[in-house]
Amino acid sequence: MQNKILEVRNVSKKYGKKEVLRNVSFVIYSGEIVGLVGPNGAGKTTLMAIIAGLIRNYEGNIYIDGRNIKEGSVEKKQVGCVIESPGFYPNLTGYENLKFFSKIFGNVNDSEINEVVKLLGLEKVIYQKTVKYSMGTKQRLGIAQAVLGDPRLLVLDEPTNGLDPNITPVVRNFLKDIVRKKSIGILISSHVLSEIEAICDRVLFIRNGEVIEEVNLNQENKTSVSYIFETNSVEDLVKFFEARGIKAIIEGEGKIKVVITSEMFENLLPQIVQKGIIVKGIYKQKISLEERFIKKMEGKIIE
Ligand SMILES: Nc1ncnc2c1ncn2[C@@H]1O[C@H](COP(=O)(O)OP(=O)(O)O)[C@@H](O)[C@H]1O
Ligand SMILES: [Mg+2]
Repeated sequence: MQNKILEVRNVSKKYGKKEVLRNVSFVIYSGEIVGLVGPNGAGKTTLMAIIAGLIRNYEGNIYIDGRNIKEGSVEKKQVGCVIESPGFYPNLTGYENLKFFSKIFGNVNDSEINEVVKLLGLEKVIYQKTVKYSMGTKQRLGIAQAVLGDPRLLVLDEPTNGLDPNITPVVRNFLKDIVRKKSIGILISSHVLSEIEAICDRVLFIRNGEVIEEVNLNQENKTSVSYIFETNSVEDLVKFFEARGIKAIIEGEGKIKVVITSEMFENLLPQIVQKGIIVKGIYKQKISLEERFIKKMEGKIIE
């Protein structure tokens, strides 16, 4: 059993009479990257700011490493975050900014800074003033700042905002690597699922302040999907599947449909070919995450 890094339990938040978060509960285990996906106004930033300890007035409880964040302060940095756009001192260099932030959070030695700078590909720009940085460079410096001091949890709010629509491979590999190496947890938000799909282990869909669905991306391969086979020998192919206890439905002329996992598909396809059954085409019918998300999100949008 993995450790719980973060537990959000029944968190609600109101601004005046407006409920911005409603009974939000979820867990992040060590080694996991979890995506928080929802339209603008869904409550992502508010939730992340609460988790990062930047908003203290809320209902419910948040535990990091089993410890309620309401219970006083801890010596060590618990959460590293980039919320909204990371603010740096424009007339200081990237390195000076990192030194400044790491001083706030306790003892971070230079070799730690240098390592993170290297892993994020910032060596060439780190001694330049941050006023000269591009958005992408600022994003990477923000992540470096968040990671320093060995927090247990990283909270990255819309890191692709204003950037090219995908997290760059450098950042993606960096995050995927440290989340496991350091046994931490990462929560990362976006209003566009496809931007963060490639990096997450799990995605929470949030709408109108509620978590409405959770999808485990690592299990997608084990989920059954529909395959349509187009063939000259419908009967033979139906027999082939039925002999293996798989129900085959005839879908129009020369087409049959089976519901199997992609693992089964990979095992069965060579056998079908070996039997001399001619397959003219194969179509996979799967509701993509994007479609699922759009279906869930259509309708009410705040603002
Ligand atoms: N400081 C605030 N005062 C009043 N309402 C706010 C404040 N911050 C956010 N909100 C409202 O809370 C809702 C959720 O906002 P936010 O957490 O920023 O959503 P998201 O990050 O998903 O776009 C929105 O309707 C927003 O207008
Ligand atoms: Mg936001």
